[in-house]
Amino acid sequence: MKYTEPENKYVTSISPEHRKKFGQIFTPVQIAKFMVKWITDKFDQGQLLDPALGLGIFFRQLPDPQSYQLEGYEIDPKLARMAENLFSSLLLNLTCLKKDFLLTETNKQYDGIICNPPYIHFQDYKENLSLIDKFNQQYNLKLKGFSNIYALFLIKSLQLLKPNGRAAFIIPSEFLNADYGVSIKKFLLKNCSIRHLIIFDPSIQVFEGFLTTSAILLFDNEKKKHLNIFNVKNMADLKQIEKYLYCPHKSSNLDAKTYSLDQLKPEVKWKYYYRDLKINLQLEKCSNLVQFSKFARVKRGIATGANEFFTLSKADAILHRIDPNYLTPCLTRASQIKNNIFDERDLQNLISANKKVFLLTVNSKKIDENLKAYIKWGEKKGFHTRYLTRKRNPWFSMELSTPADLLVKTFSRKQVVFIQNNTRALNLTCFHSIYLNSLGQQYRNIIFLYLITDLAKEIFEGQKREYGSGLGKFEPNDIKQTKVLDFTTISLKDQAILNQLYQQYVKFHKSLKSNAEKILKEAESIFYQYWRK
Ligand SMILES: C[S@@+](CC[C@H](N)C(=O)[O-])C[C@H]1O[C@@H](n2cnc3c(N)ncnc32)[C@H](O)[C@@H]1O
Repeated sequence: MKYTEPENKYVTSISPEHRKKFGQIFTPVQIAKFMVKWITDKFDQGQLLDPALGLGIFFRQLPDPQSYQLEGYEIDPKLARMAENLFSSLLLNLTCLKKDFLLTETNKQYDGIICNPPYIHFQDYKENLSLIDKFNQQYNLKLKGFSNIYALFLIKSLQLLKPNGRAAFIIPSEFLNADYGVSIKKFLLKNCSIRHLIIFDPSIQVFEGFLTTSAILLFDNEKKKHLNIFNVKNMADLKQIEKYLYCPHKSSNLDAKTYSLDQLKPEVKWKYYYRDLKINLQLEKCSNLVQFSKFARVKRGIATGANEFFTLSKADAILHRIDPNYLTPCLTRASQIKNNIFDERDLQNLISANKKVFLLTVNSKKIDENLKAYIKWGEKKGFHTRYLTRKRNPWFSMELSTPADLLVKTFSRKQVVFIQNNTRALNLTCFHSIYLNSLGQQYRNIIFLYLITDLAKEIFEGQKREYGSGLGKFEPNDIKQTKVLDFTTISLKDQAILNQLYQQYVKFHKSLKSNAEKILKEAESIFYQYWRK
């Protein structure tokens, strides 16, 4: 959506670095009007606040701005001066406080608060950790370091609302489904003033030239303990929501759900409350979906029949003097993998930590004296009489296997877990092995990115066999038959973008999980476009 004239002029006159420093992403007029209406519907006069003013788009959309006292915080002195000049040219009174909203001590109360908080990585905000501590103490919260700066704007603003006041916020919707968002959701549920949550489909680009997820949150301090959740699939839906809010008798065709606040759990990803869980039914309507088997073969991992004998740590191998030629690196437990990408360094770490990550692979005729002794020890323990070993000839030989391109955890308590295997390690049955065929190899990194997006996980979720208490199991066939995007329909340009996103994901996935999550969201919004074609 396009900017209005003053914002447009500013954006073209200032460096992207300056805007990035202050998180200056301006609200499109259609959204600003929608948010302002929530306030003016209740108040035709009174004290209004914009804690992150910019050029004051919200106040400029008021139908009768002279009737209100307008106050805004703006930390960027240059932009603050421009806002003052703009308002005086429009003959409007504005109190522009040129300071940091988060650091300002104030108890002033407002009838209405409207805000699009700055888009600043919390790590880049100089006051970050001390401020989190302060907020946690002051508002009795348990925010973590990953919390985003917008959460602080929201929490502080809600404290400044009069007992019957209203607030409208537009913020990224990620917190609804991310771990760091749990404490924010807890706060919202305890505060009880949230009335409507409007979630934009990730395929909608709400802000011009800026990729983010978005949600509008509407609050009323006359607490009602009910929350309406709306999905916005295109901008016309906003008009429908407006009708629902202000002329309910005229509204129709709304994708909305109503919950009492005690039905909503902060620990749960809220997409389960607002997305249609019958996603697999919707899939039938999409034409460019194909079975995953178009790109890959899926096999169960290696079943040894006697892990105590066949799996060894480095120390075990030294103790029994097993020649390294008889050992192949192998993942023997699901817990050995902590991230979505398993690389050579991870493997070396497991070896150094003496984890059992070697598999005895004796497939040749030559058996040296040390190995003979080890086999004898195994026979003494009775491993050769086990169900699988007694069917093999010789009993200590191992089925042939090659390292998989991707792994999927066989059992998972939460969502399906896919891992890219960038090592020569084999895997036991705790993972299924995914081997990309020659077509799949052409989209190797794109397929991996796709599989770890929430969108894909949700589709695979439908294939999970439930085992009670949240434990689910996947069978190789279930995975092969699951519908995935036909990756061959992705344009070369988008393939290039996705490959770049993959490189960024590799860089951040271990150290900066919040960045990695953002990258995945970006990738997801590209996949969404193809999914909906
Ligand atoms: C996302 S922009 C929104 C601007 C405007 N309200 C709009 O919606 O178009 C956020 C604004 O907050 C300002 N800002 C950043 N950090 C701030 C802080 N700590 N206190 C007050 N303003 C801040 C930025 O300079 C920027 O103008």
